[in-house]
Amino acid sequence: MLSALLIRNIRNASKLASVAGPNADRIVNVKWSNGKIGEFPLIWLRDTSPDAATYTISPAMTARNLTMLEFDVEQKAKKLWIDVDEDSLKIEWESGLLSTFPSEWLQIRNPSDQEAKKRRKKVYLFPEETWGKEDIERKLKRFSHEEFMKNDRVVHDFLEAVCIDGIAVLKGAPKGVRGAVEDIGNRIGMIKRTHFGMVFEVSTKADASNMAYASNGGLPFHTDFPSLSHPPQLQMLHMLQSAEEGGNSLFVDGFHVAEQLRKENPEVFRLLTTHSMEYIEEGYDVHEINGKTFRFDYDMCARHKVIRLNDEGKVNKIQFGNAMRSWFYDCEPAKVQDIYRAMKTFTEHCYQPRNVLKFRLEDGDTVLWANQRLLHTRDGFKNAPGKSRTLTGCYFDWDIVKSRVRYLRDKLSLEQNQPSA
Ligand code: OGA
Ligand code: ZN
Repeated sequence: MLSALLIRNIRNASKLASVAGPNADRIVNVKWSNGKIGEFPLIWLRDTSPDAATYTISPAMTARNLTMLEFDVEQKAKKLWIDVDEDSLKIEWESGLLSTFPSEWLQIRNPSDQEAKKRRKKVYLFPEETWGKEDIERKLKRFSHEEFMKNDRVVHDFLEAVCIDGIAVLKGAPKGVRGAVEDIGNRIGMIKRTHFGMVFEVSTKADASNMAYASNGGLPFHTDFPSLSHPPQLQMLHMLQSAEEGGNSLFVDGFHVAEQLRKENPEVFRLLTTHSMEYIEEGYDVHEINGKTFRFDYDMCARHKVIRLNDEGKVNKIQFGNAMRSWFYDCEPAKVQDIYRAMKTFTEHCYQPRNVLKFRLEDGDTVLWANQRLLHTRDGFKNAPGKSRTLTGCYFDWDIVKSRVRYLRDKLSLEQNQPSA
């Protein structure tokens, strides 16, 4: 559903003024009264034509009736014109089908309009704003757990912050209550069940006299589970019992670090974006589901680049484990030393104070973050006597989180609610 505000803005803005073409490249040129132009491929207009023969539209879903097998990609238009009264573009096709494209339908999808491109980013919720220490310290969003549990707007704002900043915090759940992770998870949608179960517990008994590191050794900056072929996309941790001293949470925006390397150390960036690592976790986990044990044997060669770029060259995934073994099947042995140097440089950048966000999760606080964007760790800690630092946590997939954001935008008639087609 289009938000009322968006429709009003677009209607106020302009009306369709003229149409020309298609030209030799089969492009249809549309002009609006405010001077904006749109170059629409003719075949795309036929493909997406919002008519009842092409789409069956019901309140629950829009089902497509046209398949590529039967689609004539060379078909022509008999006639194109602007219907001034309706403020729409009409196309009569050779087949006899009549397509009607309302002005705002075209404006929202106008490939020539930068504003429309930005809006689509918002619609599909890929609006990341990367950060260094100063930026995130200024804008890290913290919400009340209690408000989150009863107010849909808070759920929306919390999840939207995670989409943009890659991280947000909920403060002040009742202390020491184990169900908080499930409660928050159920408000968001489906928790991603893994071989750890729905909810897992992180409890490390640090030697009370040792502030340097917990008893399980050091925990460097990492993303969780690059040893899986599909590592968790988001991770949530809830503090049940904090340490007496230390045990602070540290985060770094891996997308930001990658961009720094692209500028400051292009060779390291090149190595980490071109060579895949094999991340290997050894052994197995056993987990109980409905009274039966489930044994998960680790994937022995999940292959990921430390920095993954999308087709447009934008950084869109970081995979960096702390328990990795690597094998290099895609390069000369003589290159391996350089790849290790590159990973070392990447790690050093992660630890640079200009990049690191550090804060303390108090008992009852929760943090949700993008596991394939931010790297995380904690610093050394000392437990109070008889009280082990304990967190509970779970994982989520973006599709579930983003679906909740879209659902709430619709339910609450928020301005950001946009059609996704
Ligand atoms: C982990 C982890 C964070 C913490 O165990 O993988 O990142 O705060 N723990 O203990
Ligand atoms: Zn971790």
